[in-house]
Amino acid sequence: MKYLKIIGKNKISGEVIISGAKNAALPLIACTILAKNEISIGNLPDVVDINTFLKLIDKLGGTFQKNEGRVTINPSTINKTTATYDIVKTMRASILVLGPILARFGYCEVSLPGGCAIGQRPVDLHLKALEAMGAKIVINHGYIEASAPDGLKGAKIVFDKVTVGGTENTIMAAALANGETTIINAAKEPEIVQLCEVLANSGVKIEGIGSSKLIIQGSNKELLEIKDFDVIPDRIEAGTYMCAAAITNEKLKISKVIPLHLESIISKLEEMNFQVLQDEDSVTILPTDEIKPVNIVTTEYPGFPTDMQAQFMALATQANGVSTIDERLFENRFMHVSELLRLGADIHVNGNTATINGKANTLKGSDVMATDLRASSALVLAALVAQGETNIHRIYHLDRGYEDLEGKLTKIGAEVKRFTE
Ligand code: UD1
Repeated sequence: MKYLKIIGKNKISGEVIISGAKNAALPLIACTILAKNEISIGNLPDVVDINTFLKLIDKLGGTFQKNEGRVTINPSTINKTTATYDIVKTMRASILVLGPILARFGYCEVSLPGGCAIGQRPVDLHLKALEAMGAKIVINHGYIEASAPDGLKGAKIVFDKVTVGGTENTIMAAALANGETTIINAAKEPEIVQLCEVLANSGVKIEGIGSSKLIIQGSNKELLEIKDFDVIPDRIEAGTYMCAAAITNEKLKISKVIPLHLESIISKLEEMNFQVLQDEDSVTILPTDEIKPVNIVTTEYPGFPTDMQAQFMALATQANGVSTIDERLFENRFMHVSELLRLGADIHVNGNTATINGKANTLKGSDVMATDLRASSALVLAALVAQGETNIHRIYHLDRGYEDLEGKLTKIGAEVKRFTE
């Protein structure tokens, strides 16, 4: 198993170039299933989750060619309808093939995603939406079996809860359905907006893009001609490096971003007394004379993202005073706390609220364990300011979502090396 060794307290400076967004690329690759033509996708992040998803496309019978941040997918040869356990167990986002495969072939089986490190994460809302569109769904031998032999029909879907993946699956299913689908209480994340824009550019009529009410006209099973596109920048990777600047209290430029997508993160950094300069496609964090504590509540976009909560917790350990973080989207998403405690942080958890008693220069390097993708990045951030050496184990979590983490950190002056134990 691989681990990262980070020597803390190095000065960082310069510029980090942000990669394409993993969470945008996953549904965008899934949406190629709806097409009859070859599609070239640029700004593709080189991370494990994307490679896993491409493997799934291959297992479904599609072909692809990948090189240097670009993949060309040929979905016309897709002829299988099952996402098997071996893939789904490594990546829950495999559920994103359910909507498009069902819409195209009238049948789809996806291994039921199990519980995962950040809580139960059910898929009931995905299934309810597809049922409203006429699918028959049964759970059999650990697989979701969905069928709609006569095709899916447009429907009115009201989500009880905002769900990113559920909204994506429904949008893709609706694109090939017969008639009009209205989604009420749709997620509005930038990743959803890009999915809608790619489909709209390919001739799918979608009203309300970027709002919580989407109206989609289906093609009645006629496959789409999807145009080539580039994946939007990863707002969570950008936010993580913004926190790297803040926690080390150094100046850092974060480039190739869309500042609009970073508003809630910028606003919390400003509350913590950092100045954030914004350009058309970059943000620069400036050091501050006092890191102030902050209160954060995670919520759907455009609110503060749950995927940035752990990184801000690491940052709050360096603030001068008491911060709180309320996690409202997932249960069990404080597993990084026990690892931050090993580094000497002073954090108390009560239900879904963490209270962080911050003080600069209190963290000391130690061995810690990554538990999920974003929790791992919080440990990396903490290690940057911890005294001495931190070894972060189980870094396969980081590799799922951060492209060239060591390379990017080393380039700005951090001391980071990967070892095999
Ligand atoms: C996506 C992101 C993930 C992010 C999350 C919330 C991807 C690949 N992953 O995950 O990084 O943390 O959005 O911004 O894009 N829920 C149900 N039933 C369902 C579906 C969801 O109860 O059928 C609940 C979940 O348990 C959770 C909430 O809804 O409490 C939001 O989940 P959802 O938005 O669906 O998250 P994902 O799409 O899995």
